[in-house]
Amino acid sequence: MERLNIDIFNEIDSTNDEAKRINLNKDFHIIIAEKQYKGRGRLGKKWSSPDLGNIYMTVCTEKDFSYMPLSLVIGVICKKGIEKFINNNDIELKWPNDILYNNKKVGGVLVEKEVIKESTRTIIGIGINLNIKKEESWWGDLSKYKLETKRNKLINLIISEIIKLDRHYDWIDAWRNGCAHLNKEVEIYKDEEFIKKVIFKDIDEDGNGILQNKNGHERISSGQISIKGIY
Ligand code: BTN
Repeated sequence: MERLNIDIFNEIDSTNDEAKRINLNKDFHIIIAEKQYKGRGRLGKKWSSPDLGNIYMTVCTEKDFSYMPLSLVIGVICKKGIEKFINNNDIELKWPNDILYNNKKVGGVLVEKEVIKESTRTIIGIGINLNIKKEESWWGDLSKYKLETKRNKLINLIISEIIKLDRHYDWIDAWRNGCAHLNKEVEIYKDEEFIKKVIFKDIDEDGNGILQNKNGHERISSGQISIKGIY
């Protein structure tokens, strides 16, 4: 455990924001909170983060992971971790960074980079809703599994998989197998504006989506793009 620091907060603005402020002097610095009051999601969205036993955590490191699409890889790690505790394989993935249960979102990954002095931090934010408020019922609901009681074990598993990640991690087939919309029609949105309907054919080694339309194939990077229409 010499390589790790872990900070646990009752309440914080955002564990990803804390990762930008900390003094990083171990290989990995983990920040975990019970509640966030400025939780952030992808594309500038808010990430609702009430104090209900959910996972709000960030893994911060200067290790170089630029050889793999971390959002997708971390999605695979979270899927496998949750499935271990719910005893089935019902967790699915939606490109690029969503974790689904029964076709509804239960978690997401927000990977950011921050250059501080001469070094680059990779900031891996993970939110998993083990429990939800009833008024947020558009979210997927894992509450019947009572995972709050196993939260620390799940966090532990996710951390241990991340710190041993290397080039040999075989994520791509695991991601394909877990994807909820491979070979299905999806709607492409850019900045919340509907662009077109296409077939989501595959992903490549860089985590780009490969889409098929009448004119052939095209690749999309996650940038400002999101897909809808699968639930
Ligand atoms: C998404 O699906 O849009 C990504 C959601 C990521 C949420 C997590 S919760 C822990 C970390 N801190 C944040 O403010 N966001 C990430």
